[in-house]
Amino acid sequence: MNLRTEFQKRFGFDGDIREYFAPGRVNLIGEHTDYNGGHVFPCSITIGTYLVARKRNDRKLRFYSENFPELGIIESSLDQFCPNCHDNWKEYPMGMMWTFEQHEHMLSSGYDLFYYGNIPNGAGLSSSSSIDIVTGCMLADMNDFKGITSVQLALLGQYAENHYNGLNCGIMDQFAIANGKKDQAMFLDTATLTCEYVPVQLKNAKILIACSNKKRALTDSKYNERRGECEEALAQIQTIKDINSLGDLTNEEFELVSHVIKRPVCVKRARHAVAENQRTITAVTALKDNNIEEFGKLMNASHISLRDDYEVTGIELDTLVEEAWKCPGVIGSRMTGAGFGGCTISIVEDAYIDQFIENVGNAYEKKIGYAADFYTVEIGDGARRLS
Ligand code: GLA
Repeated sequence: MNLRTEFQKRFGFDGDIREYFAPGRVNLIGEHTDYNGGHVFPCSITIGTYLVARKRNDRKLRFYSENFPELGIIESSLDQFCPNCHDNWKEYPMGMMWTFEQHEHMLSSGYDLFYYGNIPNGAGLSSSSSIDIVTGCMLADMNDFKGITSVQLALLGQYAENHYNGLNCGIMDQFAIANGKKDQAMFLDTATLTCEYVPVQLKNAKILIACSNKKRALTDSKYNERRGECEEALAQIQTIKDINSLGDLTNEEFELVSHVIKRPVCVKRARHAVAENQRTITAVTALKDNNIEEFGKLMNASHISLRDDYEVTGIELDTLVEEAWKCPGVIGSRMTGAGFGGCTISIVEDAYIDQFIENVGNAYEKKIGYAADFYTVEIGDGARRLS
């Protein structure tokens, strides 16, 4: 499919038409740590969202998505922002436009916009953040907002999710999508936004994603609930220890202060946040030392903590991971992203990939009643203008 031609079919030929791309992301380890001042270790992937765009002479906005052709061209305008309306997919780009204006980057004109994403819907590979960031990349470029760095673009994307779309997410997804580099993962300290790029060289193995295909309706409310539980735990710990976030604590320090957390459920949530952060730091060292086996073990431990303490896995993700653990050639396997559905990530030796897909796929379908999808991941560059 030639996206420019598809744009022109719907919106005509004239004017300055530009193309942009923003990837999806997958997180190798460090889950639910990004809103707890901890570390994450994501990478951007080669699939993502394409955007073809042209400025208009009026304040109208016209959106078309090749992923929702049944909705046709959706019309709106720069005077029709509606935070938390959750109307349809156009709320993501509109959230980004609104956010630009909230930050004094005023938009003088509307746009004709054609989107196409090749991230599977609801796969947990951050398709919505990818739409946010590709839109932001376009707005910054089309309006010559030169001062906006890719880190600021990520922060604007997070602001849009938090304040326009009602998801209290951390910075991981937007940061990874805006700043990714081919064949490297980002070791990001979310407390300071210091980022170290680490090459991902897996020699005879690949990163495999298994998408659960579970419909995720409750994600947002459960996600915000987990965040609230962590904040409650932090506030109670702060009555006896001077810390800024759960990410400031080692496992030992946490055990010494956890008695002040009143609700047992909050103890579990905070224990995960602290342990996962420490695990992520250890895992990155292991990867740098080429100790893939250790990295894999930490991935497995991450899943157990997300299953038992954070309780965001569910039968679908647990089945995918627990079946993966039984397969030969599997170095590590865990859920990735927010959880409650979405996907798992496994490091699998090349020689065993076909067998993995067959074994895990069959066991999953037998137990869950529908099929999972499998993809090998390639790590690609972050958001950018294409032409
Ligand atoms: C979602 C959020 C991220 C992060 C992950 C869990 O992807 O958008 O900010 O919290 O969940 O690690």
